[in-house]
Amino acid sequence: MPENKRNAKSAFYEQLATQLSSLLAGERDLIANAANFSSLVFHSLPDLNWAGFYFVKNGELVLGPFQGKPACVRIKIGQGVCGAGAAKCETVIVPNVHEFPGHIACDVASNSEIVVPLFDGERLLGVLDLDSPTIGRFDDQDAEGLNELVTVFVAHEEGLI
Ligand code: SME
Repeated sequence: MPENKRNAKSAFYEQLATQLSSLLAGERDLIANAANFSSLVFHSLPDLNWAGFYFVKNGELVLGPFQGKPACVRIKIGQGVCGAGAAKCETVIVPNVHEFPGHIACDVASNSEIVVPLFDGERLLGVLDLDSPTIGRFDDQDAEGLNELVTVFVAHEEGLI
């Protein structure tokens, strides 16, 4: 990607992080904040068909607040793209979900996906999951920018999940 486009994209994520901070300021309710976070991401980032959370509960991922079509409620750690991100404790970018073994199809429109894990220190709290109808929609800058956003979110929620 040309340098000016890279700069514009990282400036965009910085702006989004500032917006997220303002949105969360003064409110400590996890569900309310996760709901507003998913809405901010869904309506700010182009070309998404799903954006939302899965939180770790009793050793599995359970659907949290999201924007998009109804989704699979429970995902085992290690299962699908979300479960892979949770098991590896790292961001997973899948350029083409149809080539990812075990991908869980919630919306037939999804063709690419990114999963970003949320941590409280070493403890895995859950994952942020974004789907796009466009193959290859997510790159390293999305990974970096979304990691900044979840850091803002978790810093705000610490002690509440
Ligand atoms: N595709 C995900 C499941 C969740 S939905 O995309 C909302 C996966 O394979 O884990």
